[in-house]
Amino acid sequence: MKNPYTILINREHPLPPDHVPQGLVDIGIPFEAAPGDPKRLLEEKTAFAALSLIRDARHENLNLCGISGYRSYTRQAELSTGSPYVAPPGTSEHQSGLALDVSCPEVQMELTEDFARTPEGLWLARNAPLYGFILRYPVNKEAVTGFPWEPWHIRFVTRPLAFYLTLTGMTLEEYFSMAF
Ligand code: DAL
Ligand code: ZN
Repeated sequence: MKNPYTILINREHPLPPDHVPQGLVDIGIPFEAAPGDPKRLLEEKTAFAALSLIRDARHENLNLCGISGYRSYTRQAELSTGSPYVAPPGTSEHQSGLALDVSCPEVQMELTEDFARTPEGLWLARNAPLYGFILRYPVNKEAVTGFPWEPWHIRFVTRPLAFYLTLTGMTLEEYFSMAF
């Protein structure tokens, strides 16, 4: 069976409108949104990995906070107003439950490039792969990913692929475009 965690989701590879991931959970990671809000949901393995990442950061006095996890097709359609940062419905990794936006108090929990310069953002960039996440929309890769730099958006791909992509500097698009 194909590894479901390595799936490429973008404008060329959309999810069906009725795609809802199996086993979405609210694992109890610190989130800005109140309990019960669907944006706190993540696919189960993704949720455990995110919990481990955020707890380990906390042990270093870093306050990473979840902002947005799962988003339904309908919710993505509501948000999609032509902003370059918002994927059209069906093309967002948030619909898969494998993506999480994080921020920290130093930037008022905003999703901003300034997050990358905070201790939390620097720690995330250095350590996300150890937990199976990649920074999915890196700086200077807009032509490849279709999105501007988003230092806050992490995507669970499992550790082997996270290491591979990080060490090679490839995006998921570049990995899947390799001839084999
Ligand atoms: N901000 C990312 C690209 C999304 O909307 O899925
Ligand atoms: Zn995101």
